[in-house]
Amino acid sequence: MSKPLDGKTALVTGGGGPAMGSAHCRALAAKGAHVIVQDLREDHAAAVVADIHGHGGSAEAMAGDITKLDDFLLSLTEVISSTGGIDILVNHAGISGLSTPFEQIDQDFFDRMMNVHVKGSFFITQAVVPEMKAKGYGKIVNVASEFCLYGSPSASHYTAAKSALLGLTKSWARELAPFGIRVNAVAPSLMESELTRASVGDAFLKAEAAAAPFGRLALPDEVAGVVAFLAGAESDFISGQTISPNGGHTIVGI
Ligand SMILES: NC(=O)c1ccc[n+]([C@@H]2O[C@H](COP(=O)([O-])OP(=O)(O)OC[C@H]3O[C@@H](n4cnc5c(N)ncnc54)[C@H](O)[C@@H]3O)[C@@H](O)[C@H]2O)c1
Repeated sequence: MSKPLDGKTALVTGGGGPAMGSAHCRALAAKGAHVIVQDLREDHAAAVVADIHGHGGSAEAMAGDITKLDDFLLSLTEVISSTGGIDILVNHAGISGLSTPFEQIDQDFFDRMMNVHVKGSFFITQAVVPEMKAKGYGKIVNVASEFCLYGSPSASHYTAAKSALLGLTKSWARELAPFGIRVNAVAPSLMESELTRASVGDAFLKAEAAAAPFGRLALPDEVAGVVAFLAGAESDFISGQTISPNGGHTIVGI
């Protein structure tokens, strides 16, 4: 039986992540895409690939650090030529800056935040766009954060970096629309992940869940479902938008 993303190749940066990264990869593979599971952690990427293969899907691993751009872009060129081009790009790889007061953010931390979320996404997108233009079709999804919608009192560098992604989403959407390329963003709310457990801790996550409209935090698959929607033809008339799967968090205030 044919699937909606049959014949499409998707690249997910940070795709080896046990929370959302792997969920995006599984969701895209379930819709028929061949998924390039990219991650800094080779073993994590390989595990996600094995899981996708175990469910009858198609995937390959790509190791590498998206902040070491010269090396990364060389590997990406090889992947683009061996796969015939990336049709779906999910700029997901990221780090946490939660629980860091503004005055404690030094230049090094600021640069790391910008390098992974903004510079990495910028130049990876720049590398995949020529093949998308040649095909007259492409889908780009940038993973931002709910913090872009209302700020964060202890993650201003993180929020600035993720907000830059929203600016890129709108600018690329306008610039690339004539070539059939759709660019959107997802801005998920807080969820349990390695990153959030290490930064805000379990007690904070529990309190946030209790205070949330549905009494719980987001689940990785709930965000991955939106990413898979934005990657498919059913969202072809949506571009330059930010969808925030946040369980009603923003309508009730924070
Ligand atoms: N967890 C949350 O509550 C939450 C909420 C909103 C947005 N986000 C965003 O989602 C992304 C992370 O999602 P998650 O928390 O589900 O984590 P995740 O489980 O998907 O892990 C993230 C992955 O990114 C990889 N990575 C980090 N830096 C990299 C680099 N330089 N090169 C290649 N890979 C790299 C890590 O190795 C890790 O496997 C980030 O962009 C984060 O800002 C997270």
